Amino acid sequence: GTGGHVTDYAFSFEGPFGSYDQDQLQRGLQVYTEICSGCHGLQYVPFRALEDLGYTDAEVRAYAENFFVPDTGPEALPGDERPAIPTDYFPGSALSNAPDLSLMAKARAGFHGPAGTGISQLVNGMGGAEYIASVLAGYTGEEQEQAGVILYENEAYGGYFAMSQPLWGDDVVYADGTEATLEQQAQDVAAFLMWAAEPKLEARKTAGITAVLFLGLLTVLLYLSNKKLWAPVK
Ligand code: HEM
Repeated sequence: GTGGHVTDYAFSFEGPFGSYDQDQLQRGLQVYTEICSGCHGLQYVPFRALEDLGYTDAEVRAYAENFFVPDTGPEALPGDERPAIPTDYFPGSALSNAPDLSLMAKARAGFHGPAGTGISQLVNGMGGAEYIASVLAGYTGEEQEQAGVILYENEAYGGYFAMSQPLWGDDVVYADGTEATLEQQAQDVAAFLMWAAEPKLEARKTAGITAVLFLGLLTVLLYLSNKKLWAPVK
């Protein structure tokens, strides 16, 4: 995109104390599985990572079995396939011009500027998830044909691109009963893709907070030690 309009959605994982909402990630996986995976892949995400979303080992195993991967076992013939197991990865893109979505939430930025300073990103975050949700909700309905390809206008993309509108509202029936509006589905799958790109976000934030607290304590101790050390001289 060339800097279209991105909505600043309030995701649970934002800010220094933010964390993923497991129910939202499960809904996002459902949207990904039922809609996006028809064209896109997640080739860098192993099925076993889905345990982060609160699924049991048996549930992950059952999910993985829906996918087939090349069988490279000793008895296998070239071209043989077997059902996937948790240590396998999601398939790559089914449609050759649809990009893999494993790292998309980190590859795109929703917030920029002003004037290249990045101040907006400092305040609002990078906005990768906001960008994805905004693209899904950003179709104007205008179409254009270029060299035999139909392109669709999108406000968040900031022009015309090759992805037709994938979500309209009620595209899935959520397992947890949440109403599947277009905006809800767009935010849920965007949150899921943020998790896919940054599964250790919470551990990273905890480590950061621990470091800040520790450095604060160290500052106090060094200040007091310094006072005590120099007290006889003053
Ligand atoms: C591109 C997400 C469903 C085909 C993209 C991009 C994202 C995305 C984030 C990149 C846009 C950019 O370059 O900034 C999704 C999500 C989906 C979904 C989350 C499910 C809700 C689909 C489906 C199809 C599709 C079902 C095929 C029918 C494409 C294609 C592109 C694309 C061809 C490349 C467009 C271009 O660069 O011109 N998608 N997509 N997508 N998607 Fe999807």
